[in-house]
Amino acid sequence: MSVKIAPSILASDFANLQKEIEMINVSEADYIHVDIMDGVFVPNISFGIPVTEAVNKHAKKPLDVHLMIVNPDQYLEAFKNAGAAIISVHYEACTHLHRTLQGIKQLGCKAGVAINPHTSVELLKDVIMDIDLVCIMSVNPGFGGQKFIENTYAKVKRLKEIIIENGAETEIEIDGGVNESNAPLLRAAGADVLVAGSFVFSSSDPLSTIEKLKKID
Ligand code: DX5
Ligand code: ZN
Repeated sequence: MSVKIAPSILASDFANLQKEIEMINVSEADYIHVDIMDGVFVPNISFGIPVTEAVNKHAKKPLDVHLMIVNPDQYLEAFKNAGAAIISVHYEACTHLHRTLQGIKQLGCKAGVAINPHTSVELLKDVIMDIDLVCIMSVNPGFGGQKFIENTYAKVKRLKEIIIENGAETEIEIDGGVNESNAPLLRAAGADVLVAGSFVFSSSDPLSTIEKLKKID
């Protein structure tokens, strides 16, 4: 299976969102990464349910919704109804993570857990069988265009071991500062999905940038 690419629309032109989604539709991207920020869990506000719904109207790829919000349980159903195929909640925002994961699955979505740079992958061991996707943050969540944190490679390798030791089928996603130099190293460490925001949308030809990332295997 080749690496999956999830362009993050956080870095796209919001005034031309339909055009941006259509570009992703015809690209080799696998998911559309949708970053939801509430101004509480992270020091920034992005967009919410109506925008996700609008994106979904044009999207031909599954929506990979990354909830950077407190109390995610309160909004799971709304994001499912807005079109989410994968919903990732933050480990740091969930007191009863196991319950939240079951809630996501009951809605018929894939259940993801995102972890901040300071959060150890070891903390996921006891719930790994319940997680469809772990999103390892390779920057502090809240903004696009930040510098990739090098310690991420070690986290990917260790998480891959945990997944194999348990016979789980969890995908490993990397989010933040992904570019053509770190993508092959992330893939070699065990990453399955690469999120890319500014690397894709700030490039002169986003479509071929997606194809370039897709070909790193
Ligand atoms: C950061 C978001 C990321 C962001 C990635 O809080 O979760 O998905 O859009 O953007 P880049 O690729 O520019 O670091
Ligand atoms: Zn994200």
